[in-house]
Amino acid sequence: MKGRFISIEGTEGAGKSTHIRRLARWIESRGHRVVLVREPGGTKLGEWIRGTLQHDAVAEPITPEAELFLFEAARAQLVRQVIRPVLERGDWVISDRFMDSTTAYQGYGRGFDIDQVLALHRVAVGDTVPDLTILLDLDVAEGFRRLQKRNAAGKLRLDRFEREARRFHETVRRGFKALARRFPERMVVVKAAGTEAEVGGRVEAVVARRLGLDCDKQGKGTGCRSRKQSKA
Ligand SMILES: Nc1ncnc2c1ncn2[C@@H]1O[C@H](COP(=O)(O)OP(=O)(O)OP(=O)(O)O)[C@@H](O)[C@H]1O
Ligand SMILES: [Mg+2]
Repeated sequence: MKGRFISIEGTEGAGKSTHIRRLARWIESRGHRVVLVREPGGTKLGEWIRGTLQHDAVAEPITPEAELFLFEAARAQLVRQVIRPVLERGDWVISDRFMDSTTAYQGYGRGFDIDQVLALHRVAVGDTVPDLTILLDLDVAEGFRRLQKRNAAGKLRLDRFEREARRFHETVRRGFKALARRFPERMVVVKAAGTEAEVGGRVEAVVARRLGLDCDKQGKGTGCRSRKQSKA
């Protein structure tokens, strides 16, 4: 059986990494193996691209066009080297950001033509499109407050994207929401305000509803039919 592919999207500090860890445990408790990947990254080439993009590692400005292709290059490698083999063996993949981040940041944020960006995704991913994309939607300023708290122990170090003007991030947030309206069969907006447990519950409910994953190993869960019943 083919596995399932979930991507988690959202602006900075919306809680993507936190909820991916929670969701992975929840899916594992339902008897599936879960592989976590992050974008850009997840392969040697991808991690190299990630470091280069986030820390200005080349001694010249990276043009927006080059940046767009670097993201797609990292994604193409990740899809073929990691995601497809995992799905083919029937396991689940959760990706911390995926193609919608490129459309939101490079398309809506930097002003590239949206349909051209979507066409590039098709080259990079082929038919490996997520079965479900959860958009954690949070007020931009609240996201930055969360990041500031998260990083309070160490010295706050904002990477290149986090230093961009607030207006840019507002545009990105609107871009994500526009994508959710355009691809309603794949994307679900989850309100990311509130406690971690509240948001986690919303995320689990969406996964249960969209991917039919509502039973734990004992066959218990909201709206869950027992194994006997579902076999009958
Ligand atoms: N409802 C919530 N859901 C998730 N995280 C929350 C929530 N409320 C507060 N937090 C805190 O906010 C921070 C969210 O950070 P997290 O790394 O999950 O976000 P992120 O979207 O992955 O950020 P980044 O864009 O930097 O990758 C964590 O420190 C977490 O404890
Ligand atoms: Mg994160």
